[in-house]
Amino acid sequence: MSELYNEKYRPQYHFSAKKNWINDPNGLVYYKGTYHLFYQHQPDVQGWGPMCWGHATSTDMLHWEEQEIAIYPTENYSSWSGSGIVDKKNVSGLKDGEDDPILLFFTAHPTGQKLSYSTDGGKTFKVYDKTVLPNKDSIVAEDRDPKVFWHEETQKWIMILYTESLSVSNLPSYGFFSSDNLLDWKYESEVERCYECPDMVELPINGDKSNTKWVILCCNGDYLVGDFDGHKFTHCQELNISQRNYPNYASQTWSNMPDDRCVQIAWLICNTELNMPFKNQLTIPVELTLRQNGNKYELLKNPIKELETLREEVISISDVKLENSSNLFKEKISCYSEYDMEIEFEYNPFARMYFSTPFGDICYISHINALEMNTKSELLYPDKNNIVKFRILADRSSLEIFGDEGRLYMCFDKIPETRDLSISSTHNVNIKSVKIYKLKSTWK
Ligand code: FRU
Repeated sequence: MSELYNEKYRPQYHFSAKKNWINDPNGLVYYKGTYHLFYQHQPDVQGWGPMCWGHATSTDMLHWEEQEIAIYPTENYSSWSGSGIVDKKNVSGLKDGEDDPILLFFTAHPTGQKLSYSTDGGKTFKVYDKTVLPNKDSIVAEDRDPKVFWHEETQKWIMILYTESLSVSNLPSYGFFSSDNLLDWKYESEVERCYECPDMVELPINGDKSNTKWVILCCNGDYLVGDFDGHKFTHCQELNISQRNYPNYASQTWSNMPDDRCVQIAWLICNTELNMPFKNQLTIPVELTLRQNGNKYELLKNPIKELETLREEVISISDVKLENSSNLFKEKISCYSEYDMEIEFEYNPFARMYFSTPFGDICYISHINALEMNTKSELLYPDKNNIVKFRILADRSSLEIFGDEGRLYMCFDKIPETRDLSISSTHNVNIKSVKIYKLKSTWK
């Protein structure tokens, strides 16, 4: 049980570094069949410090292979978070050979925003001499985490940067900068009340590609929905703060995707002491979509469809009545340690239901429509057919829960306690379906 990637608490289908510390995902970019994942990394230490950009590659965002460190700290700076893009038109002039240049924008803390680039398709990287956004005027040492993306309407590259200093009202904010050549940046405007590691994506409303909104994603799960004309962001609803209180942080999305999907991954902070060679993991990659619910826009997250390729055996139960005070699994059965579980049942407003997981019970309290675990609680309503649905992803030291088409997301870092399976209820409930898929390890 102790060989590399098969340690007792090693996540089997969530990313963690071979060894030691990781925090934010960085520079997520797809190029020629390969997804690149960079991450804040201390390769020799279990804690945070002078940061490197670790690097891993994958063809499906699940099976990762660790590569050489991409960016190192220097005597002058630590290499903090940022983003990656492919410069297909070579506006930077950095192309040297067949491949399009891949540019990684990062915060060279405390000196300013720099970039490191690859001319061999993401195998090796070198730091560009000039600091592209130096600390001067109102850009200061703590301003950080550049996210760069293409704005089709104005045909410009945009950088959104966490700034502690631009804001007139002294609130944490995100500043917008624009550029034609990815090397010189011009200040445009700012949005207030947003903290660290910005990301920004344009999403179709209810899947309609001709009708989109821009979403600003903040590191703590807050998000803003609105319009962006390449200069200024105008929000159309209040900051959504519903996703706080969980150990997921500093999410980023992949750029230059090979399809229309918008896929996000986040740091899953491990506060539990595991005594393992690695420290921390990342969440499962999720596809982001935008749902209009009345006059409200809601961000939905769902595990990428590739996850289903890891499904092996299944425990499956359908259309049974769960009698009050009994266990759905009549005989004592043990669950897999890494699984993907989908649950659907008819809503009974009187029932309080208990679903065992290796990390403790999830409780559904029908009369207040609350899904609870570990003192955390989220609203979960039945759908229009009166069915309540949710999905659990359990790994060796983490648990994620998805519900209401992805509006509900909860995650936990924990040590498993039991593998006994049980689903019980205080009142009779019609179970439509329970499917528990064993998931293959991505490290084998
Ligand atoms: C977020 C963060 C970023 C910073 C990085 C340093 O977790 O504080 O703002 O760039 O971590 O590791």
